[in-house]
Amino acid sequence: MTDFNEAEAKLEALLDVINSSARQAIAEYKKTGHGVPSADATTFHPLDLTTDTLALKKSIRLLEGAYHQLSSILAPPQHTVMNYVFNYNWACTSVVLQARIADVLDRHPEGLSVDKLAEAVNLDKTKTARVLRALSIMGCFKEVERDVFANTRQSLVLKSSNNVGCFAKLHSRDVSKYAAVLYETMTDDEFSRSHETDKAPSLFTFKKEGMKGNYWDYINNDDDSRDEFHRAMLGLTEMNCASAVLHHYPWDDISSVVDIGSGIGAFSTPLAKMFPHLKITNQDIPEVMIQAQTAWEKNAPEALLDGRVDFVPINFLENVPVVGKDVYYLRHIIHNWRDTEATMILRNIRKAMGPNSRVLIHDPVIFHTLQQPDMGTDKLSVAPEPMLPNFGAGSHRTFQTDLTMWLLLNSKERTLDELKVIGAAAGLTLTQVYDFVETTVMEFRIAQD
Ligand SMILES: C[S@@+](CC[C@H](N)C(=O)[O-])C[C@H]1O[C@@H](n2cnc3c(N)ncnc32)[C@H](O)[C@@H]1O
Repeated sequence: MTDFNEAEAKLEALLDVINSSARQAIAEYKKTGHGVPSADATTFHPLDLTTDTLALKKSIRLLEGAYHQLSSILAPPQHTVMNYVFNYNWACTSVVLQARIADVLDRHPEGLSVDKLAEAVNLDKTKTARVLRALSIMGCFKEVERDVFANTRQSLVLKSSNNVGCFAKLHSRDVSKYAAVLYETMTDDEFSRSHETDKAPSLFTFKKEGMKGNYWDYINNDDDSRDEFHRAMLGLTEMNCASAVLHHYPWDDISSVVDIGSGIGAFSTPLAKMFPHLKITNQDIPEVMIQAQTAWEKNAPEALLDGRVDFVPINFLENVPVVGKDVYYLRHIIHNWRDTEATMILRNIRKAMGPNSRVLIHDPVIFHTLQQPDMGTDKLSVAPEPMLPNFGAGSHRTFQTDLTMWLLLNSKERTLDELKVIGAAAGLTLTQVYDFVETTVMEFRIAQD
């Protein structure tokens, strides 16, 4: 085959992946008995509200990876590169979230004139219309008639009551500021070579703004910021399919679970609801434990009444968690810390473990474009050729999360090998891996000498 034919065959193969993955996604919607969502939908599809979207997310990973690769081959490079920077969707989304535009439109399902909308949110009407038009071409809001806008299935996520909206607000309002100084931090004498938490791009911005403390201090500054952050964590779970762990880990064979760095219970509350036989211990810093109890009283009072749930404050960098439990679960914890602190956390857990205990690290994992999943990873998927083995742009969000960790905390997402090294330093060995598309669950047990 000539090079020319080979190139064309690759395009055809990508078209096949697009076709088959889109069909898999359609089948997932149809399985619910509610058909596929329509482009004009103004309500959520039942599948949007479920906690197990793993099969759908797997098909979307293929679809997004293949169509980005196809488009980047077929479009002129000048076009593709400018798409990276010609993108103010985050700024428009931030306006919508801060002005609560979706909340106002929610009271007018038939649509509201931009005059009335702008008046209700106290913004200029022509500027508001430009923001909404930029988002409408992506399917977020709809111009139902000239200068009259309505919500869509997408823009409902931007209502102030939506936890994913809360997570989007944190990103578009705060993290974007830290991203704007990335190069400055990479060339600054004090920040450039440091991997300390206190030299994160967020701190560079705080210093400029005359603020003291690091990102954790910022979150815990007052009840409102802490509240917003923990609501955002509920949103993160909803968005990244992390709840798949509730459906695909053998919880029936487990009796007790410790949620280390539990927050207000984004993982442990649905776990308690789905598996009433489990004894659950939440562990986080004291302020968060108080907030967590209030959230549990509201969301799962039955578990509290049954005495199935405990709240035990901890500083996991210094203290050993409650001892002898079956599972020590850490979601979105290890990726917040440098290797030294991450190892410290795991060593403290190792001291609490019994012979049959296991540690579940649940984080996004980086798979390089040149890297085939290695031993112990047989449950991990590899993309079909000619896609990059790590699904290319289908894994976009994992690489963005890695950058978010850098911007906020000077930390990072790790490869499986890096996580194995940290586990080994704490006397743990990797025994199982579960691919949940945007996140991976890695089960570790006590290493046998
Ligand atoms: C990114 S959040 C993850 C929350 C939760 N695991 C989830 O998946 O939604 C990190 C959590 O670690 C907690 N944390 C930070 N430093 C801590 C420490 N030294 N000891 C205990 N918890 C800590 C924070 O309060 C926060 O709840």
